[in-house]
Amino acid sequence: MKNRTFVMCKPDAVERGLVGEVVARLERKGLSLVAAELRLVDEALAEQHYAEHQGKSFYGELVSFVTRSPVFAMVVEGPDENTYLLVRNLVGATKVEDAEPGSIRGDFATVTTENLVHASDGHESAAREIALWFPQLA
Ligand code: PPS
Repeated sequence: MKNRTFVMCKPDAVERGLVGEVVARLERKGLSLVAAELRLVDEALAEQHYAEHQGKSFYGELVSFVTRSPVFAMVVEGPDENTYLLVRNLVGATKVEDAEPGSIRGDFATVTTENLVHASDGHESAAREIALWFPQLA
């Protein structure tokens, strides 16, 4: 379903008590949670999730970051096929210097390695990530 996307509050967001803030921003926008789970990620799942980044300089750091403490994984639904884009706009740019005030990263993140939220970057990645994290919905 192209009106669904995968969103994850990363360990830093859970540790800082920002899950409610992230969910509130998604809901205030008019998006709905279809599934959600607080979950400790093992290395196998982290490696599958970030498979496309294998070989990049920050890959090891990314896997150890996402496995260090629980994440809050969600499937988010909107009325249209642009849901993943709406969520990406709410989250803000990857590099914290580029994240606009008003976005989640712009308001709460100070370093790119701890940028609080992951959100699928397209229909294909959304389908792949929903199937990986919530196979019962695929
Ligand atoms: S790239 O190189 O354009 O493919 O990278 P990008 O898609 O922007 O980011 C992929 C994920 O890696 C995270 N990231 C980093 N982690 C640690 N260190 C550095 N320097 C770094 N740069 C990018 C970035 O937050 C993305 O994670 P997710 O969970 O997908 O947001």
